[in-house]
Amino acid sequence: MFPRGREIILGISASISAYKSADLLRRLQDEGFLVTVVPTKSSLNFVGAATWEALSKRKVRTDLWQDVSEAAHTDLARDVAAIVIAPTTADLLAKLAAGICDDLLTNVIMAADCPKVLVPSMHPQMWQNLATVSNVKTLRERGFIVIDPDYGRMTGADIGIGRYPESAKIISTLNSTLERSADLIGKKILVSAGGTIEPIDPVRFIGNRSSGKQGFALAYAAAMRGADVHLVVAGELPDVEKKKLEGITISAISTAAEMAAVMRAEAPFSDAIFMSAAVADAKPAKSMGKKIKKDELRNIELNQNEDILQTLNQLRRDNGNAGQQIVGFAAETFDDELDSGKSHQQDLINAGRKKLNQKGVDFIYVNDVSGGKVFGSDMTAGVLVCNDGEILEVSQTSKLHLSNLLLDKVSARFQPNQA
Ligand code: CTP
Repeated sequence: MFPRGREIILGISASISAYKSADLLRRLQDEGFLVTVVPTKSSLNFVGAATWEALSKRKVRTDLWQDVSEAAHTDLARDVAAIVIAPTTADLLAKLAAGICDDLLTNVIMAADCPKVLVPSMHPQMWQNLATVSNVKTLRERGFIVIDPDYGRMTGADIGIGRYPESAKIISTLNSTLERSADLIGKKILVSAGGTIEPIDPVRFIGNRSSGKQGFALAYAAAMRGADVHLVVAGELPDVEKKKLEGITISAISTAAEMAAVMRAEAPFSDAIFMSAAVADAKPAKSMGKKIKKDELRNIELNQNEDILQTLNQLRRDNGNAGQQIVGFAAETFDDELDSGKSHQQDLINAGRKKLNQKGVDFIYVNDVSGGKVFGSDMTAGVLVCNDGEILEVSQTSKLHLSNLLLDKVSARFQPNQA
């Protein structure tokens, strides 16, 4: 679903203030949100499933093992614009900070990559408990939006910070979070991914190792932020990615020349280009229509492929499209046997600077792929070299997180009137 729509999840955990979420649910619906309620089992002691079903007009599940075929937590998590958990108990904060997922709600939260708004509501002493303070800090650092509770009277006679805030405050936080997360609406983003394949004969080829995961993550992240994305994939798009990337334009190509043709055609319409594909630097001078017999397979004459990034940079200049942002990627290897234990951070930075200048791009993300590191993984670590001299060291993080970081960098350079 692109861009993010109005589908949201309202999670309910076991605080006596859960009844206030009935009002929140109605107000969210008034705002045009389509709400699926996911209560924890113990929260049903305060407000039962019947109330949530009647108000949301949707089936309510609490259990991972209920209706397994139709409601996998990943399905619930995939298509929502945001998750609001109101109220959030101290116990749920602790579970989320520790990454524990032992029911449907915690699994959905873990599986979702949309914005998550937490509305803690608890006794002031629990809110100020050092464990809670530390959990809230951790969750904020990981990108959760945690709304501070209000000051006032508790269920008993006590007064302090811990009250469930007004629905209007929660909705305004949600709306501003969603506005921020849709910052690429109206932007065209072109992404290349995968490894090109240069045929030697009908059964053999020259290729580069690449799972395409960085490019798929970029396409997904950009689309989730509202961009109009065109993904140019070398090779096969795995089924799991196909499902995630439903709704975006995909061009499937095979060779570097085919990739160059699509990139050239699409570049003039693009606000930003991410060249994450591993392009084969050379192709056989002659591709044989018939399988070469092994006795004749001694030497293969190669011709260099076009450097697509350089072409894109040239095109940008020719078209006077100075505002367009171009991001390159570089995979470097180091001789770990000779150099074992040595940090290659400075080498990565140097390699990045050199390639950034050579290719004339705005940003280049360089990672160390010695010994097959990074390939096929959902994680990455490297250095982002920017043409304004900034160097950003990226320590072990998900490719999706890196994608959002790159999109932040690029979108910060878009002209305001381009929005
Ligand atoms: N690239 C490209 N066209 C090519 C080769 C690479 O557009 N023919 C792009 C890649 O998509 C990547 C960047 O250039 O964004 C860096 O690729 P890399 O292979 O690291 O650089 P090369 O220029 O090929 O340099 P070398 O292999 O000599 O390190």
